[in-house]
Amino acid sequence: MSSEGEDDVGVFDLFPPSEDIEIYKYNFGDLELSIRGQELQNQNIQPSTGLLPWPAASIMSSFIAKHNELFVDKNVLELGTGVGICGLIASRYARSVLLSDGDTATFDQLNKNIELNSHLYNVNGPSSSSLSQSKKPKAIKLRWGKDETLEQLKSDLCFQPYDIIIGSDLIYQDSSIEPLFYTVNQLLAETSDATFYLSFLDRKNHLPTVERVSKQFGFNLSYLFKQILSNNNKVILLKIVF
Ligand SMILES: C[S@@+](CC[C@H](N)C(=O)[O-])C[C@H]1O[C@@H](n2cnc3c(N)ncnc32)[C@H](O)[C@@H]1O
Repeated sequence: MSSEGEDDVGVFDLFPPSEDIEIYKYNFGDLELSIRGQELQNQNIQPSTGLLPWPAASIMSSFIAKHNELFVDKNVLELGTGVGICGLIASRYARSVLLSDGDTATFDQLNKNIELNSHLYNVNGPSSSSLSQSKKPKAIKLRWGKDETLEQLKSDLCFQPYDIIIGSDLIYQDSSIEPLFYTVNQLLAETSDATFYLSFLDRKNHLPTVERVSKQFGFNLSYLFKQILSNNNKVILLKIVF
């Protein structure tokens, strides 16, 4: 973590040494994933990075596995995907999943994790036809806020706004919250059931800013899960709709 304060921590922070990277197994409902990454040893001191699954990813992944009917046949975008765990779970149920992150350093592992978990999106088995291949999640670099990739995505003739956007542990500096919601506002379908699911461990009381910015963009926010931990950090899962 930067010694100059939390708000200096950004996408291009220090990354832990790559020799610590291993494959870990995770289970959510009846799904098993193999995720290349680093073990999260101390959620308060690890640098902000997409090279390991973060605590709120397990809340989001459990939610997706448990309420998988919400994801069936939807086109899903994950923001700040990191090692890709939540989007990969969604790929089991969704029609299509786009995994995005602003940090190119995450893509080596992310692409390996997509390959490692083909049993999730190749629903008819690895040797099946183009139908199963079409469910393979794609990965793109997308930074929140006004971004060239965002404009490119929207100008694609085939572009369809997303039915569902997911994000886990994206809230750790107030200055990123507005760009994050800007991107969601640009890419989420304006239908009554289109939803942005956001899970995070609120380490420094970012919740009031999330509520304010969400309202500023015209969203309605409700709590699907909220737990106060013994160290007073909050674990939160939000449902955010137009
Ligand atoms: C704490 S990690 C969480 C990763 C993953 N969602 C999880 O829960 O395991 C935050 C992720 O957001 C990405 N990120 C941070 N700021 C970003 C920005 N401004 N634009 C796009 N991605 C960003 C980081 O690269 C990182 O992968």
